[in-house]
Amino acid sequence: MATFKRSQRLTTLLSSLLLVFGSGNVLAEANGNWKDGKEVYEKICAYCHEKGIGPKIKGYGRLPADIMKTVRSGKNAMPAFRQTEIDDAALAKVAEYIK
Ligand code: HEC
Repeated sequence: MATFKRSQRLTTLLSSLLLVFGSGNVLAEANGNWKDGKEVYEKICAYCHEKGIGPKIKGYGRLPADIMKTVRSGKNAMPAFRQTEIDDAALAKVAEYIK
């Protein structure tokens, strides 16, 4: 019972965060629960990179390490994503997926 209440509170907290992050379902998946790089790409990166807001990056031939650096530090109109938004494991997967 106590556990149930706690996870309910967590759900409420995550929903509020989603509202705050109005720019998309960035936090739709709880951190660490990303299925694979494709999912991260489709749920976060594609929002800009498949809609002409950001350049085409899928298969553009960069080193995963460079991609990861850009995601962590941001670049002009590209926002920086923190560990709490995309954890290291998910970031490595999406960088591997894109390169
Ligand atoms: C809110 C929109 C937005 C989102 C979401 C976004 N990007 Fe970007 N991204 C941009 C824009 C705009 C640029 C171009 C920045 C510039 O060069 O001025 C960019 C540039 C980049 C670059 C550098 C391209 C180059 O070589 O010049 C990489 C790599 C990149 N994004 C990766 C990602 C990844 C990976 C994700 C998902 C985790 C992501 N981006 C999510 C907007 C976004």
